[in-house]
Amino acid sequence: MQRDMMMRRREIGSRRGFLKSAAAASAAVTMLARNPETEAAVEALAAADGPNDKVRIATIGMGIIGFEDTTCALKVPGVELVAAADLYSGRRERVKEKYGDHVDVCADYREILARKDVDAVLLCVPDHWHAAMSIEAMKAGKPVYCEKPMVQTLDEGPAVIAAQKETKTVFQVGSQYASSIVMDKLRDMIAAGAIGKVNVVEARYNRNSSLGAWQYTLPLDASPETVDWDRFLGKAPRRPFDATRFFRWRNYQDYGTAVAGDLFVHLLTGIHHATGAKGPNKVAAMGGLRYWDDGRDVYDVILSLLDYPKTEAHPAFTVSLQCDFEDGGGDATSFRFVGDEGVVSTDLFSLKLDRGGISWPTPEQELKGYNSVQTFSKAQREAIAAKLEKEPRKGPAKTSYDGPTTFKPPAGYDPRFDHFVKFFTSVRKGDPVYEDAVFGFRAAAPALLCNTSLYESKLIGWDPVAMKVTS
Ligand SMILES: NC(=O)c1ccc[n+]([C@@H]2O[C@H](COP(=O)([O-])OP(=O)(O)OC[C@H]3O[C@@H](n4cnc5c(N)ncnc54)[C@H](O)[C@@H]3O)[C@@H](O)[C@H]2O)c1
Repeated sequence: MQRDMMMRRREIGSRRGFLKSAAAASAAVTMLARNPETEAAVEALAAADGPNDKVRIATIGMGIIGFEDTTCALKVPGVELVAAADLYSGRRERVKEKYGDHVDVCADYREILARKDVDAVLLCVPDHWHAAMSIEAMKAGKPVYCEKPMVQTLDEGPAVIAAQKETKTVFQVGSQYASSIVMDKLRDMIAAGAIGKVNVVEARYNRNSSLGAWQYTLPLDASPETVDWDRFLGKAPRRPFDATRFFRWRNYQDYGTAVAGDLFVHLLTGIHHATGAKGPNKVAAMGGLRYWDDGRDVYDVILSLLDYPKTEAHPAFTVSLQCDFEDGGGDATSFRFVGDEGVVSTDLFSLKLDRGGISWPTPEQELKGYNSVQTFSKAQREAIAAKLEKEPRKGPAKTSYDGPTTFKPPAGYDPRFDHFVKFFTSVRKGDPVYEDAVFGFRAAAPALLCNTSLYESKLIGWDPVAMKVTS
């Protein structure tokens, strides 16, 4: 099966010559990318596209993000949807309504993995299915785009990493923060010395709505006849059919990863991308369930602190993460990267650099400003004044930075599209994947450790290189 896939990948790549002239690509298509790093890739994908040269995909899990991801993936040149799997009959029906009757639908995802005409799969299922399905799909020779977080529990990480290594299959995790043009700019600014040495990163993902807090609408026909409940449960404990658990699975630890696994993983992906970090060595979190007390067994407020040790890529820094589902001030996703020479902040719609830096006093400020000198005797004040005249106090030399200080992505910019361009380029060419299983686990693990810290009220030690809990 895997050999079939590899042969097919070679076919896809060679039949019409993957690296055709960029000029041949459709201008309309390149407009969608707008990210210089992926624009060329889109043109190459468009040049390789042809009636017999499609990458045929199937999506497993046609819920909210299943439709979003599939629709976005289909905007990438040369991608075609042939099948989809879902456990609720209404969503299988919706697949046909939206993408056409020719798309095959099924409840059992193994039917998809067994199909020879499926070149790649998008896994958009709840978190408790991610690891098992990814491994099974890779073993079936299917390139995998698996939604974040890569795993539901820490012990699943090494097995996914091993499966990617052993099968050499293209495997990309679906946090689009790793492909965002805004995070790229931020990364470039930090690397160019715009903020000096980063010492703190603050990031938040707050929400103020019932839908934002995962109270999704249940269909009126939800029943054991329309939902394959047993298949949904998978590795989770057996229990009788429960439509709320099925359609609002995030609110239950059996299937989801709580707020940290769901949303901190995006923030951590962005932070790791921007700084080159592999992860923290200490994790602590606090929070609780204070507003959305609807029967869920997860919290709705969490604040975490994560300490990142110094590495070749970056100095030591501390991260504070916040997710508040009852933020009466409104939705807010933002990052502040704080350095000793400046701060770069973004809400993902714009990016701004302030280079205030650390201030050092002029002799005038030192002698007459808010400082101890005023309290000294005349003799001491004069002696200090004479000393300062010879050698005024100076801070360390500043990094020279004359790059941009603001950035705005084009209106309607969608990092998910860039993320899919990278995925399909890897599928066609076999290129290494950036947000691979190791990257995915290094972002997911500290997020999951925030849960452990909150639930068990303890500080957790983590080795970000070996990817192991240390205490
Ligand atoms: N990257 C992002 O920005 C982003 C955004 C939202 C969700 N997600 C991730 O996507 C995943 C799905 O989230 P969602 O909001 O779409 O959930 P959802 O509940 O809307 O959809 C999940 C679908 O998976 C189906 N399903 C469950 N188990 C299955 C199985 N064994 N086989 C086939 N189908 C199965 C269900 O029938 C359901 O329709 C989650 O892991 C979530 O974290 C990522």
